[in-house]
Amino acid sequence: MSISIKNESEINKMRIAGKLAAEVLEMIAPYVVPGVTTNELDQICHDYMVNEQQTIPAPLNYRGFPKSICTSINQTICHGIPSDKKLKKGDIVNIDITVIKNEYHGDTSKMFCVGPVSQFAERLINITRESLFLGIEQVKPGATLGDIGHAVQSHAESNRYSIVREFCGHGIGKNFHEDPHVMHFGNRGEGDILEAGMIFTIEPMLNIGKRHMKVLKDGWTAVTKDRSLSAQWEHTILVTPEGYEILTLRQEEI
Ligand code: MF3
Ligand code: CO
Ligand code: CO
Repeated sequence: MSISIKNESEINKMRIAGKLAAEVLEMIAPYVVPGVTTNELDQICHDYMVNEQQTIPAPLNYRGFPKSICTSINQTICHGIPSDKKLKKGDIVNIDITVIKNEYHGDTSKMFCVGPVSQFAERLINITRESLFLGIEQVKPGATLGDIGHAVQSHAESNRYSIVREFCGHGIGKNFHEDPHVMHFGNRGEGDILEAGMIFTIEPMLNIGKRHMKVLKDGWTAVTKDRSLSAQWEHTILVTPEGYEILTLRQEEI
């Protein structure tokens, strides 16, 4: 497989899908409060996508995933399955949204704090987001995937966090997951060279403890082996002739 270069018409469809995915995260924010269940969040997002946006929730039935969004709480790294468990004060939760519009995917996630959270949690969340943006800032034609991985890894590790290695960013388009694998660690100058028209996600997962993970018996939920807190942020990025465009940017980030 090779990395596809999207043409102007595909890029425009990816811009639309990206914006719609971002809008789901904006819409759900006020509902992420103590006492809400992640099933309720899933239902609200599902109905918004299907009825308001006329988008398809990409996770639903994707390789057997049973819900429309991923909700990953505290020690869950990613792919948490919404359930009847209530969020409680002090929880941190990643909500990961992927929509399909006119056959194209937009994929983005952010961390939410349920009421006030510990300073440990807040610091982890902030450094993880900074790592994502340092990765994004590497993106331009001629740079390499290793430049992105190196930027993410350096910031995470210099702040004494570990980086999960089993899950990566990914190319995205008509397929949810396409080439390339976008690793969140690596060496400058190594890996594929970026070209204008490539579109991929960057979605680092950082742990307070060790990097190792295990998948629960449900076959999806990835948790830290040592049960330490984990955080993740994700954007879908277009390589432009000048650098990059974040296709999933939210109002709060402008
Ligand atoms: N949205 C996730 C990603 O960023 C993938 C979720 S797959 C699912 O790649 F099946 F769990 F939805
Ligand atoms: Co993704
Ligand atoms: Co995602």
